[in-house]
Amino acid sequence: MEFYIFLIVCYLISLFVFLYVNTRTPSTETQIATPAAGNRSLAPAASQLSSSTSTRGFVKPPSSTVNSSLHRNFTQAGTDLNENEAKKQVLACPICYDMLTWSDDPVFSVDFTPRSILECSICKKAYSGNETHLDLTITSGSKKSGGYMPASSEIFRLPLVSYLYERGWRQGFSIWGGFPGPEKEFEMMKDYLKPVIGGSIIDASCASGPFSRLFAKSGLFSLVVALDFSETMLKQCFDFIKQENNISQENLILVRADIARLPFASSSIDAVHAGAALHCWPSPSAGVAEISRILRPGGVFVATTYVVDGPYSFIPFLSRIRQSFRQISGSHVYLSDRELKDVCSTCGLVDYTYVRNRRFIMISARKPN
Ligand SMILES: C[S@@+](CC[C@H](N)C(=O)[O-])C[C@H]1O[C@@H](n2cnc3c(N)ncnc32)[C@H](O)[C@@H]1O
Repeated sequence: MEFYIFLIVCYLISLFVFLYVNTRTPSTETQIATPAAGNRSLAPAASQLSSSTSTRGFVKPPSSTVNSSLHRNFTQAGTDLNENEAKKQVLACPICYDMLTWSDDPVFSVDFTPRSILECSICKKAYSGNETHLDLTITSGSKKSGGYMPASSEIFRLPLVSYLYERGWRQGFSIWGGFPGPEKEFEMMKDYLKPVIGGSIIDASCASGPFSRLFAKSGLFSLVVALDFSETMLKQCFDFIKQENNISQENLILVRADIARLPFASSSIDAVHAGAALHCWPSPSAGVAEISRILRPGGVFVATTYVVDGPYSFIPFLSRIRQSFRQISGSHVYLSDRELKDVCSTCGLVDYTYVRNRRFIMISARKPN
């Protein structure tokens, strides 16, 4: 009993220290990123540095490891399949991982895909959608809640949180975490995504879709999948897409799925992006393992999250506090970039590299050829 009281007191003290330091510091890591450092944007800053091992400031992706022969799209996939045929084989049953059969001709578009009915060729389970997205979760079709997750995931299923997400919530990440914001983050990740331009990209845990919209508008990808577990986020994502006139509805689909059970065929996807999401997943390693499974050889994984290190390392019993925090909220706090490297490498991804800005970290790794 005393131990738990002690733990709670430690937790409250650390929380206080965390908030105090966060509201006070522009740390040394921000020097490159802030306007005070010469108004340089983050992307050029990333390109100006060449080391890939620095732990402070920005780190350029190791371009030497980038194999330009990986650059391809569906029509260049090395098979005789036409683009639609190839895409048709991308979606898979989240239970059997086998191909899904479409009730009619597959159409990959915001409006038509959710109306399709798909059936697993092995377990015969049928999957369908509503007016906004295709439900490819294991619990699809269930009359109950659609599967329960820990608080760190469930909170995003609340309609109010989905409504607020791009109306202040996401902007908060910049203030207390050092996130550069979707446009700059997209610019930064282009370096990593270069080898897979023209291919398919999954915006895993897309929320209301700030990145899915940027990916679709960029015209750089042959298929964009906006994927999230939250139905309300997907509805908000759909509404935002409809509000913006300059987004093509073709080759963009909204899919409800659990990151730990991705409804895609193995080795079928060129790139996966997971913005500010790893720390929300019930099991980050289960998510990264799934991403590793669906990436084709040479496919790229790029993600952003927080790392609580620097001054925070001095908080006593930080690992224990993290464990308790995780048990209560389901949220995972990374204490160093090495932990993220470990998740990637244990899930079979190579060429890990990263860029830091205060608590913000953008990581990238790829599936070996
Ligand atoms: C903080 S938001 C990130 C949104 C967006 N990618 C960005 O960069 O702003 C985290 C998202 O992770 C999603 N999420 C949580 N658990 C998930 C799971 N098990 N599978 C898929 N998505 C999940 C939530 O629904 C939420 O939309």
